[in-house]
Amino acid sequence: MSERKILVTSALPYANGPIHLGHLVEYIQTDIWVRYQKQRGVRCYYVCADDTHGTPIMLRADKEGITPEALIAKVWEQHTADFNDFGVAFDHYHSTHSEENKVFSSLIYTRLREAGHISSRTITQAYDPLKEMFLPDRFIKGDCPKCGAHEQYGDSCEVCGATYSPTELKNAVSAISGVKPIEKDSEHYFFKLADFTDLLKDWITAGHLQSEVSNKLKEWLEAGLHDWDISRDAPYFGFEIPDAPGKYFYVWLDAPIGYMASFKYLCDQQGIDFNEFWSKDSTAELYHFIGKDIIYFHALFWPAMLHGAHLRMPTAIFAHGFLTVNGEKMSKSRGTFITARTYLDHLNPSYLRYYFAAKLSAGVDDIDLNFDDFSQRVNSDLVGKVVNIASRCSGFISKRFAGELSPDCVEPALFAEFIASHERIAGHYESREFGKAMREIMALADKANHYIDEQKPWLLAKEAGQEERLHAVCSLGINLFRVLMAYLKPVVPDMVAAAEVFLQSGDLLWVTELQPLLSHKINEFTPLMTRVDNDKIAAIVAASTATLEKTPTQVTAPASKTNPVTSVKLDTAIADTIDFESFAKIDLRVGEIINAEEVEGSDKLLKLTLNIGIETRTIFSGIKTAYSPDALIGRLTLVIVNLAPRKMRFGISEGMVLAAGPGGQDIWLLSPDAGAYAGLRVS
Ligand code: MSP
Ligand code: ZN
Repeated sequence: MSERKILVTSALPYANGPIHLGHLVEYIQTDIWVRYQKQRGVRCYYVCADDTHGTPIMLRADKEGITPEALIAKVWEQHTADFNDFGVAFDHYHSTHSEENKVFSSLIYTRLREAGHISSRTITQAYDPLKEMFLPDRFIKGDCPKCGAHEQYGDSCEVCGATYSPTELKNAVSAISGVKPIEKDSEHYFFKLADFTDLLKDWITAGHLQSEVSNKLKEWLEAGLHDWDISRDAPYFGFEIPDAPGKYFYVWLDAPIGYMASFKYLCDQQGIDFNEFWSKDSTAELYHFIGKDIIYFHALFWPAMLHGAHLRMPTAIFAHGFLTVNGEKMSKSRGTFITARTYLDHLNPSYLRYYFAAKLSAGVDDIDLNFDDFSQRVNSDLVGKVVNIASRCSGFISKRFAGELSPDCVEPALFAEFIASHERIAGHYESREFGKAMREIMALADKANHYIDEQKPWLLAKEAGQEERLHAVCSLGINLFRVLMAYLKPVVPDMVAAAEVFLQSGDLLWVTELQPLLSHKINEFTPLMTRVDNDKIAAIVAASTATLEKTPTQVTAPASKTNPVTSVKLDTAIADTIDFESFAKIDLRVGEIINAEEVEGSDKLLKLTLNIGIETRTIFSGIKTAYSPDALIGRLTLVIVNLAPRKMRFGISEGMVLAAGPGGQDIWLLSPDAGAYAGLRVS
């Protein structure tokens, strides 16, 4: 059998925003898989790049008053720093705005055109007459045709969830200039995807895809494949289409070609044969790790483009699910839209790598980051089980045996058992069943701890004549720890690097290569990992909420249905009773009003900033008729802190302050007695 050679990619993150924990599911998953291959000595390359083209990036640069080139250069620095600090080790990280990508995009397009797979026709689209540009759906705003909510985007309503076409939107305006769009014709180029129907029908059932993905694609194929619009009119940040002045490739045309471009750059640097990996008859393996939201592009468009351009198709597409935080979609108002950098400011990246590994499988199920589970899992597995083995044994080795391990392996059968698990664990890594791999490894860690518990080195150390036994037991403990480090190396490389220094036995290869270290000198032990500090988690959530406050009015909805004040009138009719359980769900805390201001355009609302002890919140409250902002600053009040955040026309309201009264000047804010302090939970 010839040696494996593998090229691996992760999806290219957009260059208009920061890397967040959701992205990291993918990059950490891919990185673990690649590190595993490399640890086994397989020739494996991992490339990626920033996805830099398209309207949003062009407009964001505009807004920041810089060129798109300057914007993407800045974001490239941030992205690569984030990946580097999380230990995501690309062989190369490129940009789709590169010479290599331009060359390949033109080449592939030209080959498709020559083979008759490109057509053109005139289409009518919304156009901003002031900005002089065509408007993508996301850049048209108006009232939802279904529920009437204001300021909804051209494709869907954030309030009622309806989807529609931008022409159905009422009172539509351009989100860029605010003027009413007009309709305008222009010629577009299309990739005739239907030409590849038979090819794709075979391909999607030929073992290149996970079964759930393949089933989904079968449905799409049965519904019929449509021409894909691959051109955009100037102004557009991208590559101009050959022989079509003023027309640019749509960002999704050149994005996957960016995989090739990034690899080409690496090949030129390192003298790798590019064609060995991309030519039609290539025997190299090509894997794309992606999120489930971009399957259509990778499993239909991309293989068709490659085939149509006489290039090889992917060996497999590995799709993963989405990250939720504490069971819900990541949300800025809940402080769960956490950027890579915010996390890094507070916590050790190895924690997250291990936690994701423990949760990941080969399927497309969403994975949940639950903070309680996170700290519990990391503390109990990595710190409590794994590091504990070394810390229980190393002290005796250094103090009693001058740092030297015993000349014999006292329980060769136990050591052999640790090694013998390698096939199962390798199988799990190879098939991306990382959760299963972590469970096997932790079961071994339990065994090692059990052995130490039985042998009780701390007692042997006190008994006369047990010197040799103590030496043997602790040495075996260290040797078992070393096997676990080899198994965990793809997941927590930084921690293992520190262990390699401690063990002084060089870079750990895969476990099949390991023999017990005998009469071997090790270093002084330093704690390889400390427990997760829960205060740091709270700090991350607080910092992620704070980012929101700087941009509070991104999503807006009508204020009409939302009256944030609880005004209890002196009514004779009392509302329906609720049971105690319902009442107990309310998380009521003392909050300090640290800022209060009027809301432009509202005669009822005040915008309050509250310190609720663990974080600050923005709450819109309908008490303006009774209170002036100045009178409120510094006051304490009761706040419902677990009320779901509400989108209002002026921003997001993150809770409710309690007030009672019939209205007008007669509204009273409920305040605790002096002596209370912010953050106190009311019970
Ligand atoms: N630029 C495109 C990909 C082009 S590939 C030729 C894109 N970029 S992205 O920044 O939106 O996403 C990059 C990758 O991160 C995608 O695979 C996407 O599925 C993944 N994720 C983004 N948010 C995610 C979660 N919340 N959870 C898990 N993966 C997520 O799509
Ligand atoms: Zn709606």
